[in-house]
Amino acid sequence: MDKRPIGIFDSGLGGLSAVKAVFNCLPNEDIIYFGDTQRVPYGSRSEKTIEAFARDDIAFLEQFNCKLIMAACGTVSSVAVNATSKIKEPFVGVVKPSCEAAVKATKNKKIGVMATAASINSGAYDREIARLDPEAKVTGVSCPVLVTLVENNWIDEDNYISKEIISRYLQPLLDNGADTIILGCTHFPHLAPIIQSVVGDGVTLIDSGYEAVMQAKKLLDENGLANDESHMGTAKYYVSDRTQNFSGIAQTLLGTDISDSVTFKELAE
Ligand code: DGL
Repeated sequence: MDKRPIGIFDSGLGGLSAVKAVFNCLPNEDIIYFGDTQRVPYGSRSEKTIEAFARDDIAFLEQFNCKLIMAACGTVSSVAVNATSKIKEPFVGVVKPSCEAAVKATKNKKIGVMATAASINSGAYDREIARLDPEAKVTGVSCPVLVTLVENNWIDEDNYISKEIISRYLQPLLDNGADTIILGCTHFPHLAPIIQSVVGDGVTLIDSGYEAVMQAKKLLDENGLANDESHMGTAKYYVSDRTQNFSGIAQTLLGTDISDSVTFKELAE
């Protein structure tokens, strides 16, 4: 048992899909979350900028003596490979676990990927799926507007504007017959009910935040790092812009009021 916290970061609210999975599947673990809300979105930036942002996020979390660091961000996991490969702690990103889950789930070997432009352009999902199953066909679509929908809390199932935007993004994946879709940006699981209503029950959605947490669980268990039931997990959140914006939407996403646990932390000069 190792009582140090798990460090989780994302550009903003997206990584809360991983936090939710920690609450459900690793309830004895403490979390330090960092959301770089000042600089969101990451997904439309250059590789150089994403690498630099990722280095800052990692350096911030490394101060907390974490037992594991998770990039709950598809963009960082896909693009900032230099920064993440230098992490000293055990590290989990979202690309590998979500591709593994998709390859396992697909029956027709047609996999769709919804992610940010940077993630799609990096080819990280295509490479990982090709490595796992060379016969699988991948269709990727970059969906930058969906990040904005989540950051503005336009996630309710009845929101017909969100539904229309999602339908347009999904069309190429449906045209190509994907039976499995990776929500490769951690913001997107927050839109899963709308996405599922557009694609129908026959299509499996892969929640990249959840899959990353499943891999973290495995890593903690295999290395004797997991907390036992005597410890009740806690969560502290740090954000690089107004805490109120984050807490308000986080309450909807997590179903709990976290405002007392959110602290402002400026990273950028
Ligand atoms: N949640 C992030 C991802 O998984 C980033 C979205 C963004 O900042 O563009 O890619």
